[in-house]
Amino acid sequence: MNSALIARLRDDLAAARYGVETLTALWGVEADAGLFRGQRVPALRGLENSVAPAARLARAFVLGLAVERGALEAALPSLGVDGAIELGLVELVEGSSDAAPVLRPLLDLRPYSFVDAHGASEFTIASDLGELALGHAIPPHHVLGVGGASMTLSGLMIDEPVDSVLDLGTGCGIQALHAARHARRVVATDISQRALDLAALNAQLNGIDSIEFRLGSLFEPVAGERFDQIVSNPPFVITPRVDGVPAYEYRDGGLVGDALVAQVVQDAAEHLAPGGVAQLLGNWEYRGGVDAFDRLDGWLDGTGLDAWIVEREVQSVEQYAETWIRDGGTRSGTAEFDRLYGAWLDDFAARGVTRVGFGYMTLRMPERGSPTLRRLERLDGPLGNDSHGSHIAATLRAHDWLTTVGEEGLADARLTLAGDVTEERHYWPGDEHPTVMTLRQGGGFARSLPLDTAVAALVGACDGELSIRAIAGAIAELLDVDGGALLEELLPSVRELVLAGVLLSPAE
Ligand SMILES: C[S@@+](CC[C@H](N)C(=O)[O-])C[C@H]1O[C@@H](n2cnc3c(N)ncnc32)[C@H](O)[C@@H]1O
Repeated sequence: MNSALIARLRDDLAAARYGVETLTALWGVEADAGLFRGQRVPALRGLENSVAPAARLARAFVLGLAVERGALEAALPSLGVDGAIELGLVELVEGSSDAAPVLRPLLDLRPYSFVDAHGASEFTIASDLGELALGHAIPPHHVLGVGGASMTLSGLMIDEPVDSVLDLGTGCGIQALHAARHARRVVATDISQRALDLAALNAQLNGIDSIEFRLGSLFEPVAGERFDQIVSNPPFVITPRVDGVPAYEYRDGGLVGDALVAQVVQDAAEHLAPGGVAQLLGNWEYRGGVDAFDRLDGWLDGTGLDAWIVEREVQSVEQYAETWIRDGGTRSGTAEFDRLYGAWLDDFAARGVTRVGFGYMTLRMPERGSPTLRRLERLDGPLGNDSHGSHIAATLRAHDWLTTVGEEGLADARLTLAGDVTEERHYWPGDEHPTVMTLRQGGGFARSLPLDTAVAALVGACDGELSIRAIAGAIAELLDVDGGALLEELLPSVRELVLAGVLLSPAE
């Protein structure tokens, strides 16, 4: 890794204002959306008449187009073309004329913006060129840039200060870079040396020096070590293990079915410090009519971990096969697509798999004693807009508070209604009383919770002044029912609302 050259590249990118705002100003929001869909024509048209350094850089390193030496030299004045060749950013196109040499980009290099606990910021991320820039299917050793799953995990990442974070399967290093913003030290591992090299380039390019990169499979590079936080977007894609089906390193860990995800879940227990949290993405199979949650329970049993699993999506095996064959760059309607499709269906049939779930896993090593949290749920609606990491951390704290407070303590607690909650009422036309009442959470996991009259009245009265017991007593009088019985009936709902972040404990 040539640190001096990377520093010069960093200076050039800063001078060119090579950032999301600059590029969007050049090509417009529709071009941004087009690129997300894998279409580059709108972006290309937006850059057509610009000689701005950022436009020249984007043409080469986002759209993957060859660039004349003079134009690249102008865009990278400090690094220079020779430096760019040495860094592996470009190579000379063979046969281009000596008078006007042309260079071909070898890497994707693009700005990426985000918001975390420290506010809005950007990284510049180098990765391998994608299918769009290459013009053909990506090779098996492709190092992925920041994709949808990467952003899902980074958006879920708890970003409260910790000492150590492990990013397992770091790829271009995106999760490690995020983690470095709230951790004193980060260890990033991958089975691919090329991924680690790119991740190290990205760390330096973004001025981060607290990440240690280690080569090896799964937890091998951190044997015997424990971390305060583990994050992993592991290679969870289920792929048939037969000749002729390509295995892409970035998405496929080489085990049968969902065994790799099961292994990461089970091995995480040995690498979490007390109180440490692992946040993972994963796929899981529904086999032979058995609910996948039963299988997930089986993975978790005996680990000693608290677990909160949110299933976001379930696909039929047919949809799943189509998604991942297309992701590998094989177009539907071709004989190759049909051959791979058959292999996927054979593989699923061999294990009796009918559907595949996708979701988020939050695992925690209890500070002491046995696990107290085992929550597996399905939430397939859009998420709220605020920080999901903060929401996950608050949910874990709410769970702990509920565990310690007991029934009597909960009844005596003075809870507050969260600021992002609204109530919806639906009426039959002309009716005085609502037929359906629902609480809607604006942030967090944007839950929608059904209400009855008593719970609606209770939620509305939670202003931190009155205890749940006092509120239940007042509601019982209004409804002319027994106060003790109503309190008993309401407490499970109160628990659920505290865990969901709708009612805030005094600790929040
Ligand atoms: C889906 S990518 C995630 C990359 C990045 N962390 C992100 O969030 O975008 C999975 C990564 O795991 C790596 N990988 C594959 N098999 C692995 C293994 N057995 N052990 C560790 N990493 C592995 C791949 O090389 C790839 O970089």
